[in-house]
Amino acid sequence: MTPKVLTVFGTRPEAIKLAPVIKEFQKTAGICSRVAVTGQHRQMLDQVLDLFKIKPDADLNIMSNNQTLFQITTRSLSGLEKLLVKEKPDLILVQGDTTTCFAAALSAFYHQIPVGHVEAGLRTDDKYNPFPEEMNRRLTTVLADLHFAPTALAKKNLISCGVPEKKIFLTGNTIVDALQSILKVIEKHAHPVLKKIPSSAKIILVETHRRENLGKPMENICDALDKLVRIFPNVHLIFSVHKNPKVRETVYRKLDKKERIFLLEPVDYPTLIYLQSKAYLILTDSGGIQEEAPSLGKPVLVMRKTTERPEGVKAGAAKLVGTDTKKIFLEAANLLKNKKAYEKMSRITNPYGDGKASKRIAEIIKFYFKKKQLFTPLQ
Ligand code: UD1
Repeated sequence: MTPKVLTVFGTRPEAIKLAPVIKEFQKTAGICSRVAVTGQHRQMLDQVLDLFKIKPDADLNIMSNNQTLFQITTRSLSGLEKLLVKEKPDLILVQGDTTTCFAAALSAFYHQIPVGHVEAGLRTDDKYNPFPEEMNRRLTTVLADLHFAPTALAKKNLISCGVPEKKIFLTGNTIVDALQSILKVIEKHAHPVLKKIPSSAKIILVETHRRENLGKPMENICDALDKLVRIFPNVHLIFSVHKNPKVRETVYRKLDKKERIFLLEPVDYPTLIYLQSKAYLILTDSGGIQEEAPSLGKPVLVMRKTTERPEGVKAGAAKLVGTDTKKIFLEAANLLKNKKAYEKMSRITNPYGDGKASKRIAEIIKFYFKKKQLFTPLQ
């Protein structure tokens, strides 16, 4: 019988990184693909589902306003309990480090269903940074049976955590697969905001949303952005503002209706890639953007205390700048003024993958089931 793989996700980044894998499953004879979404995010998830034309077989629709981690976890678990009884999948595939990812891996364990973990092995080794993602991904590692590591460093991290090497597969990050497919269509996704910005301007693109940056750090970030625009008359700022009300409150209070600052509703994925390609510089706390920007040759300043993606920093394409107003301002100002420093950070490099990760994941899963069928335990 064809093994049934249930892919479970809930937020925008998971959807972007799993879309190429689901597409690959659909082309792969030998895998029966099912998709379930928790709906941890609503609008931002649906944007990606529409874009990649993915129609979930089940939607738990758990999102509520100002949801807590307890609510996301318990609602996901109770929705998945029923779904797994009905679907009886042979493998559950999860991605990354969201609470949906952890809850889905845990519910698979309760039903004794094997778990495949895409983007396994990212670590900061700091329990509360990022919060709760560092623990979500560590707990998922403990529950997973197949670990798809995006980089050699991620593989090394998994080995350090005691994962047997034969269960780890170095695949590359599926974000590169998604990015390559979207680059073919981005020209159709130019945002009208660009018409308001002179072609000689230097665009700074911003996206921030992390829980550990809510409150004071987000205020610091906004103050730094405000100062950059005031001091550099050629700078125009485009900020794709996350749907989280706690992000919106700070960003709109600090930056709304200011000259040369454009606050946008979360733009769809191809538009975000288009805006990245037009930006002079990118400031973010997002994981996905840290992975995309080096492929586009755009310097990225990471406004966090720590990163689980040191590969971009090592390659010279990203720099960790924290959330101190002065530090963010000085680092960005340096890249605006110092041509040499800017050029050093804008070489196209791709430490995260070659665009074939999804193919590898599908092949490995097929092989995993084939081997299982061949294996007859001693009676
Ligand atoms: C979540 C993930 C984080 C991931 C991020 C990507 C957890 C704990 N966090 O963080 O790892 O990097 O997604 O965006 O899993 N909202 C909407 N509409 C949407 C999306 C969000 O209204 O389409 C609002 C909801 O009111 C929600 C709030 O945003 O309460 C926060 O969303 P939540 O999923 O709890 O956390 P994020 O900070 O988005």
